[in-house]
Amino acid sequence: MIAYFNGRYLPKDEISISPDDRGFLFADGIYDVVRVYEGRPFETRAHLDRMAYGAGSLRFETTDFLYLGEVAERLIRENGLTSGQATVYFQVTRGAAPRTHHFPPPGTDLTVYACARPFTPHAEDMERGVNVLLVPDQRWARCDIKTVGLTANVLANQRARENGAAESIFVRDGALLEGTHTNLFAVRDGAVITPPRTNHILGGITRQVVIRICSELDIPLREATLLESEIDRADEWMIVGTTTEVTPVVRIHGRPFRSGEPGPVTRRLQRALSEKTGGERAGQA
Ligand SMILES: Cc1ncc(COP(=O)(O)O)c(C=O)c1O
Repeated sequence: MIAYFNGRYLPKDEISISPDDRGFLFADGIYDVVRVYEGRPFETRAHLDRMAYGAGSLRFETTDFLYLGEVAERLIRENGLTSGQATVYFQVTRGAAPRTHHFPPPGTDLTVYACARPFTPHAEDMERGVNVLLVPDQRWARCDIKTVGLTANVLANQRARENGAAESIFVRDGALLEGTHTNLFAVRDGAVITPPRTNHILGGITRQVVIRICSELDIPLREATLLESEIDRADEWMIVGTTTEVTPVVRIHGRPFRSGEPGPVTRRLQRALSEKTGGERAGQA
């Protein structure tokens, strides 16, 4: 596999990262993941804009990563990923320098890494729906930045796995926020509701696409707090993300939600998203 590392394209196995890299020492870095359908990266610009936002928030010396769009295209070609599905992963850290908590000397190069790999869609989850857990949010207060500091997400997702669930939803002060790698949506009385963008959630690209789809389909959409105490007031729940697309939530802590079947609005949004991506038509008979 050919990957990109600091301006060069190399076999992935030949890349080595310094033990002084601040990504390794401090999780002082950002990442992003773009989905690729039949060789076409989906919403690359939005992902790279989010990286610029993250890099600016972390006060990196460079915040413009638009060139990574071409890097992605080349990695897709060189790795023979022009058909089928794939993902491209980008990671940028504050670079390698002797360990200090404060920033390294001005001019320290960022470490920039990207790779592409085949991706198998979670077709069964999208078709049948998944079980989720609700867990206390133990993350930091800048979840709007997509940093590689994901320990709380790792622990929460592992807890889901160990309990037969696909995802854990973080709860803070009684509000359902988002999953470990997904945003959360509900359907209530015909309207789609998702938590507002704050420092406690990531501005998901799929979330934004789903909001756009709602407007295109004339489905009422509200950004509003979703309370744990009001779970049963919803008609449908779903999680959305780059790798998850639109996935129905049909059980919570193992207990079937309503009929335990994916709802009609979730199915509509699934279909509309797959029409946009040109990907597999999950949810269609
Ligand atoms: C915490 C978190 N929320 C939401 C998402 C979904 O974002 P996107 O749709 O951009 O993949 C992710 C993606 O990994 C995430 O890590």
